[in-house]
Amino acid sequence: MNSFLNLCFLLALLLAAGEGAGILKLQHRYSGLEGSSKQNEKLGLGMSKQHLQHLVEHNDRRGRFLQGISFPLKGNYSDLGLYYTEIGLGNPVQKLKVIVDTGSDILWVKCSPCRSCLSKQDIIPPLSIYNLSASSTSSVSSCSDPLCTGEEVVCSRSGNNSACAYVSSYQDKSASVGAYVRDDMHYVLHGGNATTSRIFFGCATNITGSWPVDGIMGFGLISKTVPNQIATQRNMSRVFSHCLGGEKHGGGILEFGEAPNTTEMVFTPLLNVTTHYNVDLLSISVNSKVLPIDPKEFSYVRNSTNNTGVIIDSGTTFVLLTTKANRMLFQEIKSLTTAKLGPKLEGLECFYLKSGLTMETSFPNVTLTFSGGSTMKLKPDNYLVMAEYKKKRNGYCYAWSSADGLTIFGEIVLKDKLVFYDVENRRIGWKGQNCSS
Ligand SMILES: *[C@@H]1O[C@H](CO)[C@@H](O)[C@H](O)[C@H]1NC(C)=O
Ligand SMILES: *[C@@H]1O[C@H](CO)[C@@H](O)[C@H](O)[C@H]1NC(C)=O
Ligand SMILES: *[C@@H]1O[C@H](CO)[C@@H](O)[C@H](O)[C@H]1NC(C)=O
Ligand SMILES: *[C@@H]1O[C@H](CO)[C@@H](O)[C@H](O)[C@H]1NC(C)=O
Ligand SMILES: *[C@@H]1O[C@H](CO)[C@@H](O)[C@H](O)[C@H]1NC(C)=O
Ligand SMILES: *[C@@H]1O[C@H](CO)[C@@H](O)[C@H](O)[C@H]1NC(C)=O
Ligand SMILES: *[C@@H]1O[C@H](CO)[C@@H](O)[C@H](O)[C@H]1NC(C)=O
Ligand SMILES: *[C@@H]1O[C@H](CO)[C@@H](O)[C@H](O)[C@H]1NC(C)=O
Ligand SMILES: *[C@@H]1O[C@H](CO)[C@@H](O)[C@H](O)[C@H]1NC(C)=O
Ligand SMILES: *[C@@H]1O[C@H](CO)[C@@H](O)[C@H](O)[C@H]1NC(C)=O
Ligand SMILES: *[C@@H]1O[C@H](CO)[C@@H](O)[C@H](O)[C@H]1NC(C)=O
Repeated sequence: MNSFLNLCFLLALLLAAGEGAGILKLQHRYSGLEGSSKQNEKLGLGMSKQHLQHLVEHNDRRGRFLQGISFPLKGNYSDLGLYYTEIGLGNPVQKLKVIVDTGSDILWVKCSPCRSCLSKQDIIPPLSIYNLSASSTSSVSSCSDPLCTGEEVVCSRSGNNSACAYVSSYQDKSASVGAYVRDDMHYVLHGGNATTSRIFFGCATNITGSWPVDGIMGFGLISKTVPNQIATQRNMSRVFSHCLGGEKHGGGILEFGEAPNTTEMVFTPLLNVTTHYNVDLLSISVNSKVLPIDPKEFSYVRNSTNNTGVIIDSGTTFVLLTTKANRMLFQEIKSLTTAKLGPKLEGLECFYLKSGLTMETSFPNVTLTFSGGSTMKLKPDNYLVMAEYKKKRNGYCYAWSSADGLTIFGEIVLKDKLVFYDVENRRIGWKGQNCSS
C-alpha cells in the first residue's frame, strides 16, 4: 500500500468544503494540486497507447451485450484524487482525457486557441487540446441549437445566429468559458462495432483554476449529458454504472446504455430532484450501534436556498457529512478504536497505530442505511486515508469533513463497488465488487 495523504489536495478539499452556502451547482470535480511537482514526478504516466485494443478486449468479454458502451477508467481517489477516461472527438480523431463526474452535467474540453489551458499542473501528461479547425466534421453551435439552453448559456435574445457561448463555474471558483460546438464522438459498442454520434459539447477557450486533464464529462440528470445525447440518438436506455478501483490499483470502468448484472445488488429510490443524484439516508451505525442522529439532518429541503440532502457524487473525492452527524460519527469511531489520536495533519484528525497492527482490525465498521432499508457497509478504508508522519506511514486520518445541511458521498465510499444509476426506474443500486481487474 502506498496511498499517502496528498496534503495540497486535502487542503483544497477542505477549503472547498467550507463554502457551504451558495447556488446548487455542486460541480465538485477535482480540486487543485497546485505546485505539486513531486506528484508530477511520481505520476510519470501516460495514457495507454493500447486504448482501443483494451476497449475491444473488454468488449469481447461482454460480447453478448450489443447496445452498451464501456469506458475504461484510470486514476484513483487516494493520490490522484480523480478518475478519468479517454474519449475520441472529431475527424481525424483527437484523443482527450476527461474526468468522469456525476455531480456535473456537460462535457467540455480544452479547445484551441486557449491561452490559459496548458498550465503547469500537468498531473496526467501529456495534456491535449481539441483543435476545432483540424476536424472536418466540427461546427460551432448557434443560439438556436435545441440544446443551447441552461443556466450556463450566454446568448443575447436577438442572437439566434450567434455562437452558443457558455460559462460553467464550479464551487471552488474555477471556471470554464467557451462556446458549444458539435462534432463526432467515437466509441465502440459492446459487441465490437465502432461507431460515432454527433455530440454537443463545450469548447473551452478560457479556463480558471487548475485542470490537470483535458476536460470533464458530466453524468448528471440533464438532457445535455453525453449518455443522454447518445441514448436519444441510439434509443438506448438511460442508465449507467461505474466501478471505481480502490487504492491498490485504482482504475475501473464506466458503462452506459445497459443495466449491469444486478444479482445481489441493493437499491434505494432516487429522489425526485432534477439536479443531482439525491437519495434518502435514514441512519448511520458504527459496528452495530445506531447513532442517535435526527434523520431530518439528512432531508432534502426543496425550497431551501442552501444545499441540503444527500448526494451520490463520483466527482467528489471524500465525503461531506452534516456537522452534527459527522461529530457524532467521529466520536464513536474514536471511542472504539485501539489506535491513539495524535498530531493533526492539515487540519485532519489522525490516529497512529503501533507497528504490527492493521487498519482493518483496529477500527470499527460503519453502516449506512438508506430509504427502503438498503444498507451500504463501509470498512475503515472508506473513511480513513493513510498519511505519512515523520517519514513513517503509520498515520490514519479521518477524511470525512463537515458541511452545513449537506451530505455528499464521494469516491472514498463508492470505490470497490458496482454503482448503478438506474435513472429509468428512478433508483440507485450497489454491490461490492473488485473494480481494478
Ligand atoms: C493512482 O493513479 C495513477 C494514475 O493511474 C497511478 O500512477 C498511481 O500509481 C495511482 N496510485 C495508487 C496509490 O494507486
Ligand atoms: C489547428 O488545426 C489547423 C488546421 O489543421 C492548423 O492550421 C492549426 O495550426 C492547428 N492549431 C494548433 C494550435 O495546433
Ligand atoms: C429566434 O428563434 C426563435 C425560435 O426558432 C424564434 O421564435 C425567434 O423569432 C428568433 N429570433 C430572432 C431574432 O430571429
Ligand atoms: C455491426 O455493424 C454491422 C454493419 O453496420 C451490422 O450489420 C451488425 O449487425 C452490427 N453488429 C452489431 C453487433 O451491432
Ligand atoms: C478569462 O476569464 C477570466 C475570468 O472568468 C476573465 O477575468 C478574463 O478576462 C478572461 N480572459 C479572456 C482572455 O477572455
Ligand atoms: C426504442 O426502444 C423501445 C424499447 O427499448 C422500443 O419500444 C421503441 O420502439 C424503440 N424506438 C425506436 C424509434 O426504435
Ligand atoms: C451476476 O453476478 C452474480 C454474483 O453477484 C453471479 O453469480 C452471476 O453469475 C452473474 N450473472 C451473470 C449473467 O453474469
Ligand atoms: C417530480 O417533481 C416534479 C416537479 O418538481 C413533478 O412535476 C413530478 O410529478 C414529480 N414526479 C414524481 C414521480 O413524483
Ligand atoms: C418551504 O416549503 C414549506 C412547505 O413545503 C413551507 O412551509 C415553507 O414556508 C417554504 N419556505 C420558503 C422559504 O418558501
Ligand atoms: C443557510 O446557510 C447559512 C450559512 O451557512 C446559514 O446561516 C443559514 O441559516 C442557512 N439557512 C438554512 C435555511 O438552513
Ligand atoms: C468489519 O467487517 C469485516 C468484514 O467486512 C469483518 O471481517 C470485521 O470483523 C468487521 N469488524 C468489526 C470490528 O466488526
